[in-house]
Amino acid sequence: MTIRYATLLGLLVLTVACNTSTQQSDSSVNKKIDSLLNIMTLEEKLGQLNLPSAGQFTTGQAENSDIAKKIEKGLVGGLFNIKSVKAIKEMQQLAVEKSRLKIPLLFGMDVIHGYESVFPIPLGLSCSWDITLIEKTARVAAQEASADGINWTFSPMVDLSRDARWGRISEGSGEDVYLGSEIAKAMVRGYQGDDLSANNTIMACVKHYALYGAAEAGRDYNPTDMSRHRMYNEYLLPYKAAVDAGVGSVMASFNDVEGIPATANKWLLTDVLRKEWGFTGFVVSDYTGVSEMIDHGFGDLKTVSARALAAGLDMDMVSEGLLTTLSQSLKEGKLSQQQIDAACRRILEAKFKLGLFDDPYKYCSDERASKEIFTRENRAFARSVAAQSFVLLKNKNNVLPLQKMGTIALIGPLADAATNMTGTWSVAARFTESITVLEGLKKAVGNNAKIIYAKGSNLHEDAAIEERATMFGKSLNRDTRSADAIRDEAIRIAKSADVIVAAVGESAEMSGEASSRVNIDIPQTQRDLLKALLQTGKPVVLVLFTGRPLTLTWENENIPAILNVWFGGSEAGDAIADVLFGDVNPSGKLTTTFPQHVGQLPLYYAHKNTGRPLAEGQWFQKFRSNYLDVSNDPVYPFGYGLSYTTFQYDKLSLDKTEMSADGSITISVNVTNTGSREGAEVVQLYVRDLVGSVTRPVKELKGFQKVMLKPGESRSVNFILSEKDISFYRADLTYGAEPGKFHVFVGGNSRDVLQAEFELK
Ligand code: BGC
Repeated sequence: MTIRYATLLGLLVLTVACNTSTQQSDSSVNKKIDSLLNIMTLEEKLGQLNLPSAGQFTTGQAENSDIAKKIEKGLVGGLFNIKSVKAIKEMQQLAVEKSRLKIPLLFGMDVIHGYESVFPIPLGLSCSWDITLIEKTARVAAQEASADGINWTFSPMVDLSRDARWGRISEGSGEDVYLGSEIAKAMVRGYQGDDLSANNTIMACVKHYALYGAAEAGRDYNPTDMSRHRMYNEYLLPYKAAVDAGVGSVMASFNDVEGIPATANKWLLTDVLRKEWGFTGFVVSDYTGVSEMIDHGFGDLKTVSARALAAGLDMDMVSEGLLTTLSQSLKEGKLSQQQIDAACRRILEAKFKLGLFDDPYKYCSDERASKEIFTRENRAFARSVAAQSFVLLKNKNNVLPLQKMGTIALIGPLADAATNMTGTWSVAARFTESITVLEGLKKAVGNNAKIIYAKGSNLHEDAAIEERATMFGKSLNRDTRSADAIRDEAIRIAKSADVIVAAVGESAEMSGEASSRVNIDIPQTQRDLLKALLQTGKPVVLVLFTGRPLTLTWENENIPAILNVWFGGSEAGDAIADVLFGDVNPSGKLTTTFPQHVGQLPLYYAHKNTGRPLAEGQWFQKFRSNYLDVSNDPVYPFGYGLSYTTFQYDKLSLDKTEMSADGSITISVNVTNTGSREGAEVVQLYVRDLVGSVTRPVKELKGFQKVMLKPGESRSVNFILSEKDISFYRADLTYGAEPGKFHVFVGGNSRDVLQAEFELK
């Protein structure tokens, strides 16, 4: 196929012959981009750096206007918040038929955990600890999104977070560096595949670079400040993993880092990202990230835009600061033509990589859109993934699994809440078509059992908080009766049942962006409901909806069975039934610590020791590191999760007790299914470096394997540990391992482990 780019005067005609079937070589793409840059006006170059929101959804301060006219003038590089082949095709047509240089647009979207077939929120998905499965979710999401015109997703979100107050903890993979990095790579592979120019792969965008998950006090958008050691050894690693996996773009975060907003932080965007890590793609700001630097106190729009570009930002989401001010800054000598050209080149390169110059409509196939989205197959897959994300937190006296018989009372504000099932950041979802718990249970039991339902309580005692927590069409239809009246009705119903399933917790919008909380209990009105349900004397199963760790101290003490289902996606109702009735044996393990009290935050397993640690078995000692009022322990530690069967660990052994610098050690453990059902167990390997040039965490995850075991079956699980696995950024920030003693721990969670020791020579 041949595309002609012509200047208005017809002085220069550039013919770009493109081979549609193979990816073009870097040098041929470079030549094409050189030719294009030669004929582009300054305005057109700045246009490529401009990413307005098409306005179907909005999160930030401003809406862009006159988008169509701007596209025709070549003042838009890409669009987002636009859905459907028809809408996207219309916009692409404006770019490639009406604009002077016919440069195609990128079409972005927050395809975060699935497209229309929605998977569990990322925090839930990470609890599957199944990297292949997670990669496949991204693959399916890319398949569906690309069938609907999208060629770029603002995912994966890899912000490490250890603060449950921060609502966006739901969008990431939890608190762990190693697991988070493995997931980051898998997501990039899933979205981008082996060939970005294929019509069913899309460009990934790792976000929010950097450290966004460490926002002070868990308050969204807040500054982050931490040592470079902590950055290099912990918070930066998942972004680096995505870069190593070849991610095509990076999103700068809203927060400031060391006092410089990430959007204009040269150290982050150029020195680390490009020079140290070798990233060659483009960097986009977050939504109005450029203009928000005015409120950060970093200058007026012209100043912050020039600073951002000079720091290494290439594309401006929504603010239009780069578009409208850079030519003036150029005149004033605040930046160079080369800097603008470099940014423009990176955007053009991305479009070449996606194959958009070959065929700008390659993602706009009505046929694919009608056949490949929300398919029976994808929904079945989403159902099985959801079940694998659930974490069984408690199961006293094997209350679960339930029998498909008798009368089951399903009570709670989240029991019949279709629009809440997909959780936060599911912009493409068909909200009303999600399977609710009520539907799922009814389908599962058929005529074998009776399911009776009552709401039991509102989401929150405070109507204003409930309104904030049910935005974006996700109302829980607040009941205006008194809390007592709503509860009494439910208790009457529950009394006639054999068992009670309480679907309570957070609504979808209680986590996610701008949804920080200082109280991370289940809202009081729902806890009152739980108390009243317990008083009926019937067995109570808590089906917990949440986008973050909650403080479940009371629930853990009082409720016999707790199944944490996060927000499992469009098919979650069926998946919840699958697990409640034992058709699927739960195997999820927490990737984030559940604290006893919000005052313990940040609470995470890979913490450093103090000089005054508690003595073994103690929870309070004067002049030791602890609190007067609660122990340092979590309610549920990282890595924790039960099954309907039980596993026993024994025979931890190392093939040698000394590791040479270029050698390795094989660690083996015997894992036995000691229960009566087949089940999957995530076997976890942790290491402690006992002495370092900088202090080292008390435990760090270094490997895991998910094994399926039949009742009575034993398996020897092996891990190979080499020097690179125990390397870190040392006191002088060089990377490598330090000789000395190491403890090795293996177990089914980060707390209950077997221990051995070796020495690195
Ligand atoms: C969020 C990003 C998102 C962007 C575009 C922002 O508010 O922070 O995660 O990708 O909006 O929708």
